[in-house]
Amino acid sequence: LLNQDTYLVNGELKKWTGEMTPVYSTISSSEKYEPTLLGNIPFMGETEALEVLEAASSAYNNGQGLWPTMKVADRIKCMEKFVTQMKTTRTEVVKLLMWEIGKTLGDSEKEFDRTVEYIYDTIEHYKQLDRNSAHFTKSQGVNAMIRRGPLGVVLCLGPYNYPLNETFSLLIPALIMGNPVIFKPAKHGVLLISPLLEAFKNSFPKGAINVIYGRGREVASPIMKSGKVDILALIGNSKSAIALQDQHPNKNRLRLVLGLEAKNPAIILPDADLDLAIQECITGTLSFNGQRCTALKVLYVHETVAEEFNMRFAAKVDELVYGNPWDKSVSLTPLPEKEKPAYIQELIDDATSKGAKVINAKGGEHFDNFIFPAVLFPINKEMRLYHEEQFGPIVPILTFKDIQEPLNDMAESNYGQQVSLFGQDIKTIAPLIDTLVNLVCRVNLNSSCQRGPDLYPFTGRKDSAVGTLSIFDALRSFSIRTFVASKDN
Ligand code: G3H
Repeated sequence: LLNQDTYLVNGELKKWTGEMTPVYSTISSSEKYEPTLLGNIPFMGETEALEVLEAASSAYNNGQGLWPTMKVADRIKCMEKFVTQMKTTRTEVVKLLMWEIGKTLGDSEKEFDRTVEYIYDTIEHYKQLDRNSAHFTKSQGVNAMIRRGPLGVVLCLGPYNYPLNETFSLLIPALIMGNPVIFKPAKHGVLLISPLLEAFKNSFPKGAINVIYGRGREVASPIMKSGKVDILALIGNSKSAIALQDQHPNKNRLRLVLGLEAKNPAIILPDADLDLAIQECITGTLSFNGQRCTALKVLYVHETVAEEFNMRFAAKVDELVYGNPWDKSVSLTPLPEKEKPAYIQELIDDATSKGAKVINAKGGEHFDNFIFPAVLFPINKEMRLYHEEQFGPIVPILTFKDIQEPLNDMAESNYGQQVSLFGQDIKTIAPLIDTLVNLVCRVNLNSSCQRGPDLYPFTGRKDSAVGTLSIFDALRSFSIRTFVASKDN
C-alpha cells in the first residue's frame, strides 16, 4: 500500500496531514472480483494550489529567477541528474503502470524506457537548439544576437493512458527550456509518480518543478483563475482544455500546447494486402484496449473486399487473450476507468438498435472491469459510435464504393490527427496522399497510426491538437525567440 502523504512544493517534499483519496486498481487481487486498494493520495484544495503556484511564480520571478536564468550547461546537468535517478525506479514504476492502468508488462516497460530515451534525446536536441539558436546574424545593417528563452509558469496535465511517457513529453521540454512547472498527475496513473518525487526534488532548484494532487476543479481551477499561468500544457479531452482556458482572465497571455481527441480512420483499398491490413488494424484498434488517441477508431473497407476482411478481422479479434497485464500471452486487460464497460455497452446497444451487428463471437462479453472488443458492422451516421471517440475496445466498420466517401467523412469530421491507408498501387495511392495530408497531419502507408518516433511531429488539425509535440517542436513550443540588436555605425 502506497501512502503518498507528501507533495512537492518549492523544492521540499512537504508533509500532507489533510484528507486522503484512495486509489484503486480495477485489477482484482482475490478470486472473487473486487477492485484492489493500491494506496492513497492527498485530497488538496485551493490553498495548496495557490501555494504551488506561488512557488512556481517565485521560481520564475518574471524571468529573473534561478531556473530561467540558469546557464544551458547547468540546466542540462540538472536534467541528467534527474534521469539517472529516475532509472533506478524502473521496477516500481513498471509495476504501478500495470496495476494502476492495466498496461501489459511489455508495454509498461516500453513506456518507461521510451521516457528515459525521450529525456536523453531532449537533452541532445536542447544542446543543438542552443547551438543553432544562439547565433549572430545581420540584416539591413542590423546585427542580431538571437537566442531562445523561457516563457513562464507551465501548468502540466497528462493523460491516464500514458501517465508517464506522454505527460513527460510536455513536462520535460517545458522544464529544460527554463520554465517552472506545476504538474498534476492523471487520476489513473498517479501513484507511479511517487517514486520520482525524490529525484525531482534532488535534481532541480526550488520551485522549478512542483507536484500537486487533487481533482481538476479543486486545484487546476484556482491556478488558472489566478491569471499567472503562461502555458497550459494538457493531453486529454477538449472539454477540460476549454474549461481551463476559459478560467484564465487574460487569454492573450496564455499559450496552449494541447493533445486532444482523434477518430483516426483506416482506409482499406481494393488491392490492399489483406494479411497486413488485418494485422495492422488489430494492433491499431486494440492495443492497450483501444485507449490511445492514435488508435484506429473507424475502419473503411472497400466493398469488394469487405466480406473477407470482416470475417478474418473478426476471427482475429476473438483470438486475443484477456487477463492480467503481467501474463505474457495477454493483450487485453482490465480497463482503468470503472465506467468504461458500461459506456462501451451503450455504444453497442445504440449501434445494434440502428441496424449494426456484432460480427465477432466474443464481442461484448463482460468480465470484471472489461468488455471483450465488439466489432460492429455496418456503421452509419445515425449511430453514436460513428461520432464519438470510443477510446476503448469497440471497432466500427463501414464499407465504401468510391474513395470520395471516406474522404468526405474525414473532411466533415471535427478531428484531423492521422489516417492509415492500405493499398499497393502507387498510381492510386500517390494522388490520395496529396488529399489526405490536408485532412490530417500524418498519413501512415500500410501501417497503423502511432505517435512515435518521438522526433517526428505529433499534432492534429481541428479539435485534435493545438501546437505540435515531438522533441524538436516541443522545445520550441515551450520557449520564445529573443534577440539583442545593434546597428553598424
Ligand atoms: O493517446 C495517444 C497517445 O499519444 C498514443 O501514443 O501512438 O505511442 O501509442 P502511441
